[in-house]
Amino acid sequence: MSKTILVTGGAGYVGSHTVLQLLLSGYKTVVVDNLDNSSDVAPKRVKELAGEFGRNLSFHQVDLRDRPAIQKIFAQTKFDAVIHFAGLNAVGESLVFSSSAAVYGWPKKVPCTEEFPLSAVNPYGRTKLFIEEICRDLRNSDSQWKIILLRYFNPVGAHPSGHIGEDPRGTPNNLMPFVQQAAVGRLQALTVFGKDYATKDGTGGPFLVSFRVRDYVHVVDLADGHIAALKKLSDPKRGCEVYNLGTGKGTSVLEMVTAFEKASGKKIPLQIAGRRPGDSEVIYASIKKAETELKWKAKYGIEEICEDQWNWASKNPFGYGSP
Ligand code: NAD
Ligand code: WQD
Repeated sequence: MSKTILVTGGAGYVGSHTVLQLLLSGYKTVVVDNLDNSSDVAPKRVKELAGEFGRNLSFHQVDLRDRPAIQKIFAQTKFDAVIHFAGLNAVGESLVFSSSAAVYGWPKKVPCTEEFPLSAVNPYGRTKLFIEEICRDLRNSDSQWKIILLRYFNPVGAHPSGHIGEDPRGTPNNLMPFVQQAAVGRLQALTVFGKDYATKDGTGGPFLVSFRVRDYVHVVDLADGHIAALKKLSDPKRGCEVYNLGTGKGTSVLEMVTAFEKASGKKIPLQIAGRRPGDSEVIYASIKKAETELKWKAKYGIEEICEDQWNWASKNPFGYGSP
């Protein structure tokens, strides 16, 4: 019998791609999202893309903090696991939690392995660290729990169909939505942060521009990482495990911009600015643990990422909404 997964925040960027991969892998999926940072068009498109499996998706526009509404959903359905993308709490026997590379703070060396010391350099990273700790405490206080913490590096790209992708409300925070909006003319230029950064090998002076390096991972690869995590949760062994989800490769901002220009045929106007507070210089993942234990490895590189990002952007220049 197919398993039923509760997906909180399943209308969002990573959530919608993961829900699609879940449906295509034969899971029944119940999405709870208050649409604070997403659109109800996303689950509709996911349903269409899933074809005959689309019938296994149900969507509830509910705030996770609305306890009676959540209790009703738990009373109606017995869930095999919860994947928690949204803000607050959800309870089940097993849980996959969206953590972040932000828990490594400014790493002293790369690639970051899961055993690296953890620290937070901003409030967002601190929330991820806190929730990771709460998950570990939960497991220590009740040995029935099976929990997987997934530390995403930089999720980018979009589903190859171009029907679902990232559509942040208001001004974006991350690089690729900015690049995309500059390409379709919604923004005049991309501000490249980091005049005062060193070169990729750490030897350069302040005149060198933005060699900051990140580990950009295709959102469909990331979504598949959740399927791998769910399979791992089916092991009889209980516990709380943590895995990096990245590619293991570092790419600079300018390499990313060049790849996007190639994929889109558009020139991205650049404006060079000072360093962004809180930005680390170089960070990318060690992927050995995920490869060995989850049998998961990213399939796509920055070329495919940029092609899919552009496909989504050109088909949906205003995301799920209208201008
Ligand atoms: P997103 O904003 O697109 O998705 C989050 C979803 O949660 C949204 O659809 C939002 O409406 C919903 N939501 C928020 N509060 C809610 C509430 N109280 N009740 C119900 N729904 C609620 O973000 P995303 O990029 O898909 O990120 C998903 C998760 O992954 C988050 O926990 C995020 O912190 C984590 N993460 C994201 C990145 C990234 O760069 N995208 C990297 C690392 C970790
Ligand atoms: C990437 C690079 C910027 C915007 C954050 C979180 C991380 C994860 C992903 C959630 C950096 C540069 C960016 C712009 C730029 N999210 N940049 N101009 O900071 O690596 O990671 O999002 O968990 O935890 O910390 O991602 O996409 O913001 O930046 O030059 O307009 O692009 O300086 O080097 P970041 P990002």
